[in-house]
Amino acid sequence: MNFDQLFIKISPEEICDNVFTLVGKDFYVVTAGKEDDYNSMVGSGGGFGLLLKKPTTWCFFRADRYTLEMIQKEHTYTLSYFPNEYREQMLFLGSKSGRDSEKMKEVELTSVETPSRDVSFKEARLIIECKLTAVTTADPNDFNTQEAKDFINEAYKEANVYRKLVFGEITCVWLKK
Ligand SMILES: Cc1cc2nc3c(=O)[nH]c(=O)nc-3n(C[C@H](O)[C@H](O)[C@H](O)COP(=O)(O)O)c2cc1C
Repeated sequence: MNFDQLFIKISPEEICDNVFTLVGKDFYVVTAGKEDDYNSMVGSGGGFGLLLKKPTTWCFFRADRYTLEMIQKEHTYTLSYFPNEYREQMLFLGSKSGRDSEKMKEVELTSVETPSRDVSFKEARLIIECKLTAVTTADPNDFNTQEAKDFINEAYKEANVYRKLVFGEITCVWLKK
C-alpha cells in the first residue's frame, strides 16, 4: 500500500491525543533524511505549541545525535508515533547510533515516503512532519532550578556534547486510516 492509501491528512488542531501522553508515555521516533539515506532515533519529552504564530514541535536532543546532524543537513524531519506493539522496535532505534551501525537496515519497521519526500514508517499511527525552525544550545545558566541545571550539565561532561532545543514548524499531520 502506498502512503495515500495508509494515511489521511489532518490539521494540527485535529490531533486528538493527549499531549503529555504523546511525549511522556508514547515516545516518538524522529527521522531525518531521504529514502536513500535516512536515520531515526527515539525521543521523549518535548512538546507542541505556537512559536512565531506557527504550530510547532520542540524536542530536546543531545548534540551528538546522528539524527540531529541529519535534521540540520536536511532541514525537515518527521515525528512518528506507533501503536504499543512496536515499542520494542522504537526502543531499538534508541539503543545505538546510526552513525556507526546499520540499525536502519536491522529495525523491523517499513519505511515510507511522505508526499513531501520525508521519511516515516508504514506502522506509524500518527506522523508529524516538521520544517526546522531553530536549534538552540541549552545553557545551564539560563535555567532556574538546580534540577534543570544538573540535567543540562550532565551532557556537558563530554566535550562538545551539549543539549539542543530543536524547534520545528508543523507542515503536515498524517493519521493512519
Ligand atoms: C525511551 C527513550 C527516549 C529517548 N529520548 C531521547 C531524547 O529525548 N533526546 C535525546 O537526545 N536522546 C534520547 N534518547 C536516546 C537516543 O534515542 C539514542 O541515543 C539513539 O541511539 C540516538 O541515535 P542516533 O545517534 O542514530 O541519532 C532516548 C532513548 C530512549 C530509549
